[in-house]
Amino acid sequence: MKTFAVKGNLLYTPSPSRMVCLPRHFLVCENGRVAGTFPALPEKYAGIDVVDCGNGLIVPGLADLHLHAPQYAFRGLGMDRELLDWLREYTFPEEARYADLAYAEKAYRLFADDLKKSATTRACIFATIHTDATLLLMRMLEETGLVAAVGKVNMDVNSPDYYCESTAVSLSGTERWIMQSRAEFRNVFPILTPRFAPACSAKLMAALGDLQQKHALPLQSHLSESPAEVAWVKSLFPDCRFYGDVYDRFGLFGSNGPTVMAHCVYSSADEVELIGKRGVFIAHCPQSNVNLSSGIAPAKAYLESGLRMGLGSDIAGGFSLSGFRGISDAIQVSKLRFRLQDDSQRPLSLTEAFYLATKGGGAFFGKVGSFEAGYEFDALVLDDRSLPATGELAPEDRLSRLVYLGDDRCIRRKYVSGKKILG
Ligand code: GUN
Ligand code: FE
Repeated sequence: MKTFAVKGNLLYTPSPSRMVCLPRHFLVCENGRVAGTFPALPEKYAGIDVVDCGNGLIVPGLADLHLHAPQYAFRGLGMDRELLDWLREYTFPEEARYADLAYAEKAYRLFADDLKKSATTRACIFATIHTDATLLLMRMLEETGLVAAVGKVNMDVNSPDYYCESTAVSLSGTERWIMQSRAEFRNVFPILTPRFAPACSAKLMAALGDLQQKHALPLQSHLSESPAEVAWVKSLFPDCRFYGDVYDRFGLFGSNGPTVMAHCVYSSADEVELIGKRGVFIAHCPQSNVNLSSGIAPAKAYLESGLRMGLGSDIAGGFSLSGFRGISDAIQVSKLRFRLQDDSQRPLSLTEAFYLATKGGGAFFGKVGSFEAGYEFDALVLDDRSLPATGELAPEDRLSRLVYLGDDRCIRRKYVSGKKILG
């Protein structure tokens, strides 16, 4: 890959408390990674291609650590339900339709096109229980140039007859999907996806633990999202100390590979301790947690305890695919939590929420989400001229306005590992 640079106002967060702003700097890409940031191009880079972005802002690409591709087509429906009713009345009937590959093709096309145009460069994605439709989704995402972990969902109990697998079929489908996707894709890779503990038998979870070891795979699921769900898990697994302990007993809680758990709204102190000990990533999904009346996760406390965490849109619990919207939602719910629930935890700052959306979530994919040297060159070139200001604003303030007011039309270019995929 050719060495090149983009030039503009660089903004990134090497830590949750620090926003670095480098006005009119060069960001050099070498072999798909950041070689450095420079006020003037060093001699050794003389003659490389430079993309001058003028007064534009350049920020790391955003990571979406949790979303459901087959739910994209029904965003905005059933938003007056809580989680378990929403799953039964809206989600499972819609996901069952993906048995039909023609339907899957039509719906996944909408999703892949929009994800490509969004601020997201990396994502952890749930598909459905259907192996072939999941491979179809992966094929479409591979073509976008995005990097994505995609999971064929496993569910063999406590699910409607029309949307449930036998344990044997769930496992054979999973093995075929792993082999086929590993052979076929480069940017897109398989991630084990037991839907959530209530929908998986002990036998299935034990076998998925074996598969994770055998194939060295990452894993994603849901954890402590809503009060009714947490109570249900307790009744199904009375011997377990807490919800996350169910996964842990089957080796599905970070002991066998990188793991991301969505929500963690109601994690007990013991659960939080194990999340930290096992290095599990938390996908904080503020908009979904509001829409399904789930609650507000203590994201600020998690951040301060040094837990690994990023943001998730949780389409279609969340209706917006926008990572910028995710940042403003995370800040807003943290303010309500501070004022109404626990004033010992200050709200998230813009810098902290931006960190979660970039380097926090990016860490699930390696050295991703920052402009420090050695990080993968995932970058967005942003144009805020459609958000007129009455005077000159500092780059940090322009970023704040983009986060709250901007949309995909402000994204002029998008790079993933040094490859331009938009613009
Ligand atoms: N828990 C189990 N399945 C789901 C789902 O599809 N969405 C959300 N938000 N939570 C879940
Ligand atoms: Fe979810």
